[in-house]
Amino acid sequence: MPTIDDHSDDGRCDDPVVLDQWYAVCALTELDHGAITTPLLGVEVTCVANGPDVPLVHADDVELPVRLRYGFVWTTLGTPAGDVFDLPESLEPDRRYVPCGWITMRTSPGRVVENFLDMAHFPFVHPGILGGESNTEVAKYESEIRRDVDEVWATNCTFFQPQVSASSEGAYARLSYRVPAPYLVVLYRVSPADPTRQDAIALFIQPITQTLCRAQPVMYLVDQETDHTDLLHFEQTIFLQDRIIVENQRPLLLPLNPRDEIPTRADGSSITYRRWLKAKGLRYGALPFPPARSRRGADA
Ligand SMILES: [Fe+2]
Repeated sequence: MPTIDDHSDDGRCDDPVVLDQWYAVCALTELDHGAITTPLLGVEVTCVANGPDVPLVHADDVELPVRLRYGFVWTTLGTPAGDVFDLPESLEPDRRYVPCGWITMRTSPGRVVENFLDMAHFPFVHPGILGGESNTEVAKYESEIRRDVDEVWATNCTFFQPQVSASSEGAYARLSYRVPAPYLVVLYRVSPADPTRQDAIALFIQPITQTLCRAQPVMYLVDQETDHTDLLHFEQTIFLQDRIIVENQRPLLLPLNPRDEIPTRADGSSITYRRWLKAKGLRYGALPFPPARSRRGADA
């Protein structure tokens, strides 16, 4: 009998909260080969190079909306209220643009966002890099839903990190987190290279099924010095460590009921994220999973 975690073949998504979003589905550089077909919310979408013009995206012979942002093709299966989220740092000409490659994760996209927001795991999952076992405390920080922009933010976050970035020594990292859409998250980090500016590290998540997604970190860095390969290795090391952790969390679906998991002070951003999703009425990839009667359409 299937368990609550067996949603790898759960068919098309029928949740408008998730459908009415923009998703990065392929890097423009991937279209050098002509076309890419990739699963999005239970649907195969195909991106096709279109000469000098904007690539075309279709699913089941239906043409889908297309946007080009941040070096990626974005599309949607629904009707988003707005455009692809703004990342003003991407327009600053002196920043280094570093897309880090897709990482597939066998868990719900919400769990991936939540892990990205979580500082408490740094010493245990990224020892010697983003945390050390002698500095495990998460200092008080603020988290809020910004209703004017409909985003979740966590600010005034600090954490001692033995190796803040690919090129730096140990220091207290000063961080802010931003969730501009249910499956998009951005980390702002006061730059080790220039403390007057912040690096922006976005995570674009492509939901495939309720318990399978892939994610791509895309960095806009102030740092001009660090070798490109070192930057990639640094990020890939971090995300491969994270993958082991998030894939082993249970349930795979993100619990939205406040009683389902016991929060601690360090979980403030996670609690705020879950509250935001619940207020939106998000069902996809989340618990409590709707009863079988209302799931029938999604499983067809
Ligand atoms: Fe991590």
